Amino acid sequence: MYVDYVFSKYHDYARNEYQGYSKAILKSRLVTLVSFFIMGLGVTLVYATGIPLVEEGSITPGTLYLFVFYFGLLLQPIFELLRQIQNLQQADASIDRINEFFATKTVLEDKGEKEALQGPVDIEFKDLRFSYHEEDYVLQEINFQLKKGKTMGLIGKTGSGKTTLSRLIYRLYDYEDGEILIEGIKTKDYSLHELRKMIVIVTQQVELFAATIKENITFFDETISDEVVLETIERVGLTDWLNSQPNGLKTELKKAGLSAGESQLLAFARAFITNPSIVILDEASSRLDPATEVLIEKAVNKLLENRTAIVIAHRLETLEEVDEILILDDGKIKEYGDRKKLVEDKTSYYSHLREVGIEELLV
Ligand SMILES: Nc1ncnc2c1ncn2[C@@H]1O[C@H](COP(=O)(O)OP(=O)(O)O)[C@@H](O)[C@H]1O
Ligand SMILES: [Mg+2]
Repeated sequence: MYVDYVFSKYHDYARNEYQGYSKAILKSRLVTLVSFFIMGLGVTLVYATGIPLVEEGSITPGTLYLFVFYFGLLLQPIFELLRQIQNLQQADASIDRINEFFATKTVLEDKGEKEALQGPVDIEFKDLRFSYHEEDYVLQEINFQLKKGKTMGLIGKTGSGKTTLSRLIYRLYDYEDGEILIEGIKTKDYSLHELRKMIVIVTQQVELFAATIKENITFFDETISDEVVLETIERVGLTDWLNSQPNGLKTELKKAGLSAGESQLLAFARAFITNPSIVILDEASSRLDPATEVLIEKAVNKLLENRTAIVIAHRLETLEEVDEILILDDGKIKEYGDRKKLVEDKTSYYSHLREVGIEELLV
């Protein structure tokens, strides 16, 4: 049944595409046809007026030939012009699509006026409840207070609401019940742009652009100097990799060839160059092999210093350095507390997981 559905979708798509494409081809062929017609007409006219003149003796056959030759020369730029008009039409269609994209408005109200804060900040969730659809709650009764500069490890089954929680801090969605406070200020009271300036989320999905290494790290922000970029690259441990590139920071990335680990480190460089107050790592290194993951964790621990951080992880080893642990279960807090205390308390669920392995939680 699913196959039928996909094929019927594909059929619709292909049919639309076919209609558009055949129209475009027809138009371009028509333009060519008209151009040849004009050319034929022109040459005929030149001969029709020229031959009698030659017969009369007022011009020589050579002059007539020159006229035909010049007419041919005149046509070349006209053909070129027609070709360019076609190109412009294509560009016009592309610009329409880009404008459409720019015109997309967020449904979130942006009335807050508070500006971004510098340095680490407190994050507090107060009785937060959230659903994507009506009463279907994905998060409920979420209460925690993450003090500035601390790191919280967030664990839970797939679908328990970890990513949703990070999206709410970044305000990709609005919630109706409860509050999220950053440094005591509701996230809605910050201007959306300023709020997002404070926060960086790194996921395992790294989008790279066909641009230089520097542009990929700075997101095309030309105000960031080479020195700052180099320093960030050093901090994430990519200096050796950069030195092996033919044109340094100016190397086009698609040619550079990156391993999964390197592109993940590049994503970290990208995240930390903006010096965010809050960092959220959403299973950022889970795509990598364990050896590379350890390497990255080392880089990350340094980078998290002096920031408030939430680390969503699928390996307990990743969380050995964090200050607090929050375990989510089906959208509710199963356990929350100071990591060291949870380790000491042998009756805690976290201790239990450390003993039997996180697999028990994940299945
Ligand atoms: N954009 C969305 N729209 C509707 N439901 C969603 C959306 N994103 C996630 N969900 C649902 O919310 C629940 C929590 O998902 P998620 O926060 O991604 O969990 P986790 O990151 O812990 O795996 C899941 O049941 C998921 O299907
Ligand atoms: Mg997730």
